[in-house]
Amino acid sequence: MKLFTVAALALVGPVQAGLRFGCSTLTTQRLDPIVEPGMVPSAHLHHIVGGNSFNATMEGDVGARATCTTCEMSEDFSNYWTAVLYFKHPTNGSYHRVPVKNNAALAQGTTGGITVYYTQFDFNTDALERQPIKAFPPGFRMTVGNPGHDDAAAARSAVGLRYNCLQTLINRGPELADFPDKPCPAGIFAVHHFPACWDGKNLDSADHQSHMYNTMDRGGFTNAPPCPASHPVRVPQVTYETVWDTTQFNSMWPAGTPNPFVWSFTGSAYGTHADYLFGWKGDSLQRAMDTPECFYDGCGSITKQAMSAANQCKVENFVDEETDGWLTSRPGQAE
Ligand SMILES: *[C@@H]1O[C@H](CO)[C@@H](O)[C@H](O)[C@H]1NC(C)=O
Ligand SMILES: *[C@@H]1O[C@H](CO)[C@@H](O)[C@H](O)[C@H]1NC(C)=O
Repeated sequence: MKLFTVAALALVGPVQAGLRFGCSTLTTQRLDPIVEPGMVPSAHLHHIVGGNSFNATMEGDVGARATCTTCEMSEDFSNYWTAVLYFKHPTNGSYHRVPVKNNAALAQGTTGGITVYYTQFDFNTDALERQPIKAFPPGFRMTVGNPGHDDAAAARSAVGLRYNCLQTLINRGPELADFPDKPCPAGIFAVHHFPACWDGKNLDSADHQSHMYNTMDRGGFTNAPPCPASHPVRVPQVTYETVWDTTQFNSMWPAGTPNPFVWSFTGSAYGTHADYLFGWKGDSLQRAMDTPECFYDGCGSITKQAMSAANQCKVENFVDEETDGWLTSRPGQAE
């Protein structure tokens, strides 16, 4: 009987602390208001979720001006984006965009999208008295990772940017620093953990990273060591999870040949990166972060919307180009 109880608990899993919610895909296009503001198109294709003020240039208080969001949290008008995964046909060299599929255990009705986390301490506790969390201010933005990184050794030590070869949507298998080297029965899972220490002054920096500091040393959802004096302000630890549905390409990957998946930029799997542009309305994120036992996708007074409503949120496609079907080159890349 005791054994049964333990097994049942293991199935339920640990309690999770912090916000976790789904955001459906908003748009897939070549814009990057953080790294290449004003450029239409930007260098490479992105998969974007969140609020409808997404545009080539985004300054000021996004949360005050957006009117809808693809996120379940209806006061969250932030934008979240990553590069897009492509399949490169092993023999004829054509490219095909890999679709995104809904993550396990999210709100019903999420289409594609990204799972977003704002963790206060670690996955199981909020520890608010020990470690209060300051929400980001309007205009805040940051990136993590770098499309130019092609150094396996450095990337292996860059905790928090990882892949999993999904056996099922729930059984993720071990974390990998490089793309999986065999077909993954349920897709390729990509995770991006952002740093949680801020200098407390700058909304951005020239490289979009040096106003932040990463103290994470053990990867995923563990509490990072204390922030340094240079970056003393503890902010929520933001994480993205994306499920790339590679299954339709598995039969085109001959056994024993190299991984055929590439990012939408020219570079390697180690160049994985993600962008965050804060846009919660008013003090809604601060209220969530001040709420103890802010578990899963429920949190104090944070308002939620049905995903059927979230999925109505749209933005214009500012870049007129083909990103789907079989292509001779990835958008914007000289192949
Ligand atoms: C996007 O930016 C353009 C150029 O600045 C502007 O005309 C347009 O209104 C913006 N669209 C949205 C939805 O913010
Ligand atoms: C490459 O193979 C795919 C899958 O069979 C096919 O649809 C595509 O047209 C091919 N590309 C070229 C350039 O032949």
